[in-house]
Amino acid sequence: MAKNLLTLDSLGSEGIRQVLDLAADAKKVKGMTRESLPGGRVGLIFDKPSTRTRVSFEAAIWGLGMLPIALRSDELQLGRGETIADTARVLSRYLSALVIRTFEQARVEELARYASIPIVNALTDDHHPCQALADVMTLQEEFGGFAGLRVAFVGDGNNVCHSLIQAAGHLGFTLAVSAPVGHEPQAAIVEAARANCLVNGGGIELGHDPRAAVSGADAVYTDVWASMGQEKEREERARKFAGYRVDEALMTLAAPRAIFLHCLPAHRGDEVTDEVMDGPRSRVWDEAENRWYTEQALLYLLITGRERWERLG
Ligand code: CP
Ligand code: NVA
Repeated sequence: MAKNLLTLDSLGSEGIRQVLDLAADAKKVKGMTRESLPGGRVGLIFDKPSTRTRVSFEAAIWGLGMLPIALRSDELQLGRGETIADTARVLSRYLSALVIRTFEQARVEELARYASIPIVNALTDDHHPCQALADVMTLQEEFGGFAGLRVAFVGDGNNVCHSLIQAAGHLGFTLAVSAPVGHEPQAAIVEAARANCLVNGGGIELGHDPRAAVSGADAVYTDVWASMGQEKEREERARKFAGYRVDEALMTLAAPRAIFLHCLPAHRGDEVTDEVMDGPRSRVWDEAENRWYTEQALLYLLITGRERWERLG
């Protein structure tokens, strides 16, 4: 098993599949038990707001038998100029793992460079790998696997989209991204995923027309138009993204079995209508629930370094 989860690429195809297998086991027994990692301690640093990630991680950590310690950077000496490197060295002496949500991806990478414990990226401006694990778990539950699957991503080619692109490369499904001009996903992430698709199957399609991306898709995914830290751009983005709302008319172009996914929080009426969020194709609540199981599986595998475990359930 990998040491860290910095981007989804940290796990590779094999690591992602191990997380998915253990998470599915954990779900069958309604979560791993407090005998799993008794006495462990996991720090959580949140520099941005969170409902799902914070609560699911704290609950998952407690459920594994460990103590969650949630902190904001400005409560740490980090906020007064102590270096990331020194913080990483010190926290490694107290904790079993450290989960961090922050702005620059480079901060997470720097923590990992100096820490001797697993570092987990709980969202940066560029990646949201924990979200992608729950997303692919939800796809697997619905469709039984990934071969031949077509997923459409409609909206901002940002952190959530980047992690889904990496997921497609490792699991071999097709991700069709449609984003407004100027909001396409980063080319380097797309190229690396395309190289993985040559080995694993699937592909990454890029375009600007949501209707083309959604046509025949098995799942339609969207995210907010203005991410955390982009609040000032909200109005400008609302204008640019106006044609990228997932509504019933768009969903009718998808495959008859298509489901709707969203990382949440949703801005209802912007990127998605109430009708789709609350409609029969929506799997957003299962997707949010799956955060808990994938996080338990991930922490267990990263902290123990194991590749096998006793089957649960
Ligand atoms: N999807 C997600 O990460 O939600 P939170 O911002 O509430 O953690
Ligand atoms: N792209 C969103 C995801 C929230 C979970 C953001 O970064 O705010």
